[in-house]
Amino acid sequence: MALRDAGERARGATVFVTLEPCNHHGRTAPCTDALIRAGVARVVFAVADPNPHVRGHGRDALRAAGVVVEQGFDPQAQRAAEHGIAPWMRFITLGRPHLTLKAAMSLDGSIATRGGESRWITSPEARRDGHLLRAACDAVLVGSETVRIDDPLLTVRDVAYERAPVRVVVSRDARLAVDAKLVTTAREVPTWVLCASDADEGRRAALGAVGVRVLAVPRGDDGGIDLAAGLRALAAEGIVSVLCEGGGTLHGRLRDAGLVDRVVCYLAPMLIGAGGLRAIGGVGAERLADVTPLGDWSVRAVGPDLRVEAEVR
Ligand SMILES: NC(=O)c1ccc[n+]([C@@H]2O[C@H](COP(=O)([O-])OP(=O)(O)OC[C@H]3O[C@@H](n4cnc5c(N)ncnc54)[C@H](OP(=O)(O)O)[C@@H]3O)[C@@H](O)[C@H]2O)c1
Repeated sequence: MALRDAGERARGATVFVTLEPCNHHGRTAPCTDALIRAGVARVVFAVADPNPHVRGHGRDALRAAGVVVEQGFDPQAQRAAEHGIAPWMRFITLGRPHLTLKAAMSLDGSIATRGGESRWITSPEARRDGHLLRAACDAVLVGSETVRIDDPLLTVRDVAYERAPVRVVVSRDARLAVDAKLVTTAREVPTWVLCASDADEGRRAALGAVGVRVLAVPRGDDGGIDLAAGLRALAAEGIVSVLCEGGGTLHGRLRDAGLVDRVVCYLAPMLIGAGGLRAIGGVGAERLADVTPLGDWSVRAVGPDLRVEAEVR
């Protein structure tokens, strides 16, 4: 698209790209052919192709055609490029989507009060920021309790987006009410359910009949959905990036299984105290050696709340 927009101006130009241009036919024709045809003089890429079978082939093809090829940007741009390409790298190297865990919590780490209230802990500004996260993902994932209690729509609102993310619910028995908003709008915005392979056939068929796509995966050792298998099933459908929006049980199980790549927390200036629902539940770490180490912090104010983002190391 960039070459098409540049037209003749691409001739003799330098092209900066995040990923090493490919030299094979995938969903599109090779990028190397397009660059050579456009007559660019130099290509600088940030990250080599993660696939060991094709790594270096794009670079070599460009060089053979007389194009100067270099790898690496300045440190700040390199970080931004690696950040941008992270979902794709996960998808290719691990065969599962990149997973961002998002939670709107009190300063003491609760996403709901002991009475079950969670609307709203954070400000409209933080919620709008959350819509930007949604808009940048292929799928939004939630646990069935969140659907039962909050009845969310999980669509992108108030911000521009290219393609609505698929809404995915994790529920062993495909326990999703037919009058839930996710179900009644399933023909407008895709809704999928990740259920267990032994889930009731009748319930699966009933959801299918109203436009909900049902993906069956095995149960894990704890009796819930095998979340790694669930994510692989999403990858097989072309889902590269997932935003998990709760609840605490699903967040915790994803953490326990080592499936979280990035965390975005909105911290509201309030304390919920005892009995609040923990943002990250599950089994948790027994020893400090079992914690999920985070790095690459960034913190900024969003309205009255704090937005904390970190990468899992
Ligand atoms: N503030 C926030 O950011 C925020 C965001 C979301 C939700 N919430 C709040 O969180 C609460 C709901 O959270 P929750 O922790 O009770 O439930 P949850 O995480 O939303 O859903 C858990 C349910 O998911 C299904 N499940 C199937 N396999 C699973 C697996 N391997 N791991 C985890 N879950 C699996 C199970 O139901 P089945 O029996 O159907 O299999 C399980 O009971 C609500 O009060 C909601 O308002 C707050």
